[in-house]
Amino acid sequence: MKYLIFDTKKEASVESYKILKSLIDENSTLGLATGSTPTDLYAEMIADYKAGNFSYKNIKSYNLDEYVGISYEHPESYHKFMDTNLFDHIDINKENTHVPDASAADLELAVKSYQEELNNAQIDVQILGIGGNGHIGFNEPGTSFDAGVHVVDLKEETIKANSRFFDGDINLVPKQAMTMGIKDIMRAKHIILLAFGKEKREAIRSLVEGEEITENIPCTILKNHPSVYVLVDKEADFKL
Ligand code: PGA
Repeated sequence: MKYLIFDTKKEASVESYKILKSLIDENSTLGLATGSTPTDLYAEMIADYKAGNFSYKNIKSYNLDEYVGISYEHPESYHKFMDTNLFDHIDINKENTHVPDASAADLELAVKSYQEELNNAQIDVQILGIGGNGHIGFNEPGTSFDAGVHVVDLKEETIKANSRFFDGDINLVPKQAMTMGIKDIMRAKHIILLAFGKEKREAIRSLVEGEEITENIPCTILKNHPSVYVLVDKEADFKL
């Protein structure tokens, strides 16, 4: 595992893009994340595309997760997030992008078909944020390391943390999500995990410094992955 500390989110994001670019080519498959964490990385991707240095025409992507119970048109749905923060600004073919279909009438079927799609894909680089409780994707503490795609009840701390995107009102935050499982995340060839802010510090400590690998802190499984880059700002650095 490579652990890299930067003064700011911006600096870490610039470096994360350099790492990403060193690991992919224009035919690669990306695993993408949402939330506040990857926004500056996506800005770097867009800027480099606009400068004519990289094309996404043949790139495929698979997103980690999506809320259950809000429509794709909801400004905080992860479908919308991806369009707004990345897909609408690059030349990716939307048919090559995949976000869990969590507003499907038959969720069980949607879970099955996302699993099949993932099983038939090979993600070259998975981008990850991390929850203050150590979740990756929406794999909350206690999730089996063997889990594949599933529907999850979000933990109270996650609902609270994400209420900042819903006018600070926890009642507006979806209570469930559909997520890739830990097993799916671990199949990626390379993982780039970003963490910013002091709320992430203890999770980063467990990931980088701690010895224990436990389902109670889902990110700790990444210790078993052969190629992980962890980039943090100084607020998230556990040595602070
Ligand atoms: P954030 O969420 O990027 O909005 O902080 C990260 C996560 O919960 O995985």
